[in-house]
Amino acid sequence: MMVSMTDYKTVPVITIDGPTASGKGTVAQRVAQALGWAMLDSGALYRLTALACRDAGVATTDEQSAARIAAGLDVRFEDGKVFLKGTEVSDAIRAESIGVQASQVATLGAVRQALLERQRAFRQPPGLVADGRDMGTVVFPEAPVKVFLVADVHARAQRRCKQLIDKGFPANLADLTRDLEERDARDRSRAHAPLVAAPDAVTIDSSNLSIEEAVNAVLDLWSGKGAQGA
Ligand code: DC
Repeated sequence: MMVSMTDYKTVPVITIDGPTASGKGTVAQRVAQALGWAMLDSGALYRLTALACRDAGVATTDEQSAARIAAGLDVRFEDGKVFLKGTEVSDAIRAESIGVQASQVATLGAVRQALLERQRAFRQPPGLVADGRDMGTVVFPEAPVKVFLVADVHARAQRRCKQLIDKGFPANLADLTRDLEERDARDRSRAHAPLVAAPDAVTIDSSNLSIEEAVNAVLDLWSGKGAQGA
């Protein structure tokens, strides 16, 4: 069912923001599955923009060209797979070098603006779980449940290392820890939509939580709101 521009704001959204490799993606996916809702992996859009810039020979500092590429992205999300111009790039966008370039294009205001409506269009009934850096602050500021998912840098580096190795990419813990710290610093300090908890977000530290515990913590927040008729 399509929702008109006037009533899409009644569709509930759970936002899950936080630093790189805090477990947002996995938790968001499981929460979406549990509720039967759609899921927005907004980081994938920044990664796709970085990949499309690289393919087009556009520097991640060239704001106007990168924004044009972001606005014109030919993307399809289907059954957990991602396609760019019809070619599957699900694994290619997970490379660490693309993550670093995604963080670079994400500092550009015109790129963020170009991706804004594309992200909001994911808000369809019965609900949306949106994962990223600015879901609760900029993209869906009226979301009824906002989570800021954090974890200490060592837990995050270990998770990212395992993810990369599982996907067949080379990974080194010391390099990854340095990359994560640099990306976090860039994501937190940029002028446009920096990584920050929304004032009404609930912070969950997943360093010592299983995925299931983190998922249940988010679902508990939603049932608390749901009981109020959201
Ligand atoms: O979540 P991720 O690692 O796939 O995101 C890749 C980069 O994209 C991240 O370093 C910052 C950027 N990003 C962003 O600026 N805003 C978002 N909502 C999501 C990701």
